[in-house]
Amino acid sequence: MKSRTAIALFAALAFAASSFAADGTAVWNNHCSSCHGADGKGDTKMGKKLKIKDLTDAAYQASFTDEAAFNAVKIGVKTEAGKTVMKAIEEVTDEEINAVVVYLRTLKK
Ligand code: HEC
Repeated sequence: MKSRTAIALFAALAFAASSFAADGTAVWNNHCSSCHGADGKGDTKMGKKLKIKDLTDAAYQASFTDEAAFNAVKIGVKTEAGKTVMKAIEEVTDEEINAVVVYLRTLKK
């Protein structure tokens, strides 16, 4: 394949990939499940250490808005005393955060 054709093909593929919606499940598994658990229960080593609340619990899910969940990922979570308990997840785009918030809502039992 001539290199110019290869570049054009690469550009077309990159465009196609970026026009798909972000995959919330993948974002969860890659960036959140190590603490919150794949199922959202927080039943992980880190989860226990950090006393993570159970995201499958409907009452807990109702206690924060989608915007608060977005901000938890974007800017992190602090206790009232100002101690950081969840650091901002910097590797994800805003689109991926929106997708993972949608996914997080599906963990509710
Ligand atoms: C280093 C461990 C860790 C990682 C990684 C992590 N979290 Fe958290 N998260 C916490 C802790 C600790 C809390 C605060 C305790 C709690 O409310 O359960 C928290 C709280 C939250 C809250 C509740 C915010 C509120 O207002 O009550 C949401 C929503 C959340 N995390 C979503 C996510 C998402 C989505 C990801 C992945 C993009 C993620 N977390 C990654 C540790 C983590």
